[in-house]
Amino acid sequence: MTAPTPRPGSVALITGGTGGFGRALAAKLSEREVTVVLADLDSERARATAADLGAQFEVLDVTDRAANVALVERIEAQHGRLDAAYLNAGISAAKSDDEVDLDEFMRVVDVDLFGVVYGTLAARPAIQRAAGGAIVVTASLAGLSPMATDPGYSVAKGGAIAFVRSMAPRLAREGTTITAICPGFADTAIIDRIRDQFTAAGFPVLSADEVADAMLTAWTSGEPGAAYVVQPGVGTVPYRFKGVPSARTQSGETAVVPEALRPPSMR
Ligand SMILES: NC(=O)c1ccc[n+]([C@@H]2O[C@H](COP(=O)([O-])OP(=O)(O)OC[C@H]3O[C@@H](n4cnc5c(N)ncnc54)[C@H](O)[C@@H]3O)[C@@H](O)[C@H]2O)c1
Repeated sequence: MTAPTPRPGSVALITGGTGGFGRALAAKLSEREVTVVLADLDSERARATAADLGAQFEVLDVTDRAANVALVERIEAQHGRLDAAYLNAGISAAKSDDEVDLDEFMRVVDVDLFGVVYGTLAARPAIQRAAGGAIVVTASLAGLSPMATDPGYSVAKGGAIAFVRSMAPRLAREGTTITAICPGFADTAIIDRIRDQFTAAGFPVLSADEVADAMLTAWTSGEPGAAYVVQPGVGTVPYRFKGVPSARTQSGETAVVPEALRPPSMR
C-alpha cells in the first residue's frame, strides 16, 4: 500500500524526533513537503541528526510541562500553524532485574506516559486553531500485552493507550484525530541492549521505516482513539479491544451511564 500524503505546507512536530522512528518519519514527511520540527533532549548527536535531515531542531524534555507549551507557541509563532504532533519520545528501563527499581519505574512513566499527556494538552489548542489535524502517540505492543522484563514500560504504554482512547471523543469534536501506534520490537537504539538475543533466536524485528509508514497513515486516515498494532509479517492492524461487560439493571437490561457522567461529545 502506498502511504497517503498529508497536505503540503503542513507543520508537524515529532518529539524524540532524532531517534530511530523520528528520523524515518521526518524523512517521509519532508519528502511530502511537510515542515518538520524535531524536538529532543539536547546533544551533539541530536543536533547533527536534524541538520542531516534538513529539519529544524528544538530542545525539549517532554517531562517539562511548561517547555511543551513554550515549544508549541514557538512553532505557531514561526510557522503560523501546527497540524500534527507526533508524541514519540520514549525510554525503557536500562536493566531488567528481578527487583523493581522504583526510581527507574517512575522515570519511564514520567517520559512515556506524562510526556504524552503534557504534549497532547500543549498541542491541542494549536491544532484546533489550524482547523484540526492529528496527534499520534507512539505507544507499544507492551501497552497491550504484559512486559515481564520492564513493568514500568508496560504501565506507561498501557496508560498512554488508555489516555488516547479517553481523549479521542473530545478531540474528534474539534477535528483532531488522536491515535496510538503499538509496534512490536523494532530495530532502533532502544533495543541495543537486547538486539543480539533477537538475532540469535532468529526473531523478526520491524524496520523503523515500517513503523514510520504506520505513523504517517495514522495522521491522514487514523480513526479517533484507535490503537494500531504493527508487527513483522502482519503489517499495521487496528487492535480490537474486547467489550468490557456492562452493568445490568435489576430487570437484566444493559445499564446506561448517567448523562452527566458522559463527556459533552457523547451526550
Ligand atoms: N524500537 C522499538 O522496539 C519500539 C517498539 C515499540 C515502541 N517503541 C517506542 O517508540 C518511540 C521511539 O523510540 P525509538 O525506537 O525510535 O528509540 P530511540 O531510542 O531511537 O528514540 C527515542 C528518542 O526519544 C528521546 N527522548 C528520550 N527521553 C526524552 C525526553 N525526556 N524528552 C525528549 N526526548 C526524549 C531520545 O533522545 C531518542 O531520540 C519510543 O516511545 C519507544 O518507546 C519502540
